[in-house]
Amino acid sequence: MAQIETSMRGYLGEHAGLKFIFFGGKGGVGKTVFAAATAMWHAKQGRRTMLASTNPVHSLSSLLGQNVLGTHTAVDGVPNLWAYEIETKDTIERSKVEIREKIQWFLKFADISTKAEDFVESATMNPAFEESAMFENMIDLMLKNEYDVYVFDTAPTANARRLLGMSKVYSLWVNKMLKSREEAKTLREMLSFTKKKEKDPLMDYLLSFRDRMEQARVLLTDPELTSFFFVTLPEALPIAVITRFVQWFHDFGIPVGGVIVNMLIDRAAVGADAADFVKNRVAMQQEHMETVWQKFDGSVRAIVPLFDDEIRGLPMLGRLRDSLFV
Ligand SMILES: Nc1ncnc2c1ncn2[C@@H]1O[C@H](COP(=O)(O)OP(=O)(O)OP(=O)(O)O)[C@@H](O)[C@H]1O
Ligand SMILES: [Mg+2]
Repeated sequence: MAQIETSMRGYLGEHAGLKFIFFGGKGGVGKTVFAAATAMWHAKQGRRTMLASTNPVHSLSSLLGQNVLGTHTAVDGVPNLWAYEIETKDTIERSKVEIREKIQWFLKFADISTKAEDFVESATMNPAFEESAMFENMIDLMLKNEYDVYVFDTAPTANARRLLGMSKVYSLWVNKMLKSREEAKTLREMLSFTKKKEKDPLMDYLLSFRDRMEQARVLLTDPELTSFFFVTLPEALPIAVITRFVQWFHDFGIPVGGVIVNMLIDRAAVGADAADFVKNRVAMQQEHMETVWQKFDGSVRAIVPLFDDEIRGLPMLGRLRDSLFV
């Protein structure tokens, strides 16, 4: 039977300067509870820790039993720990204003008499719009640098990887925007009789955005600062999901901290008189554990048992933390 080489505790000891910690994996595997437990562990080490949710479907407030939506909130009873569910409403409103301005300008330029509003609505109803607003807010949080450690509770599946993949796409996009903006500006200046240079708030925004993206990219690809941990269950689908993730992240040059297996049923606790479905499940899990060792040997950081209750509230989180950081 294979064994854990470097545990979660060991890994974080070897990478004591880690500042940005992420948890990825299929829906419902335990990303949120592990993010919270990891943040609690860091806070206990005396480090100012921010537990931030970038999952549009937030669940930190209900996990902690405390409203943390939209503001940095000190977690009751846990010194050094703050939690924060990032709100995209304001960012989306601000982006709408910017898009509206751009579309209005274009419609006027092209002499089209349509209301900009219809275009604005269809552009901002796109789900990718919320995702990019979330990403912007996350970067703002990282660059403000008000905490020692940031643990992020990310959205399931492709989102986490897209979040970072986006930084490449974004800089391409922003460069293109800048170019067309520059051309339009020159054209306008050539056509106008007044020679005074126009102020261009959108251009300023794009430039600062590109700079912030670049800074974020540097931070997120630095293995001394950033680590992504992938959570799986001993089941086929979640394993398949993180197998793809690990590959993608390697390809993108984003540091992978390792794999955490969650909800393994304690075999010793299952007696001979247990119901068949329980025995079958234990057997199934054992089989999938073989795959886990085959695929991720050397990268498995923790194997966390299935608890007898759901993980809610600080006492339960404390138990989970102790099991993650044995
Ligand atoms: N080891 C465990 N034992 C028992 N229950 C657990 C364990 N780990 C997680 N849970 C429970 O499983 C559910 C899913 O956990 P969690 O919300 O952390 O998953 P998630 O990956 O963040 O989900 P989502 O993709 O929806 O954000 C929760 O109800 C949580 O309490
Ligand atoms: Mg979650």
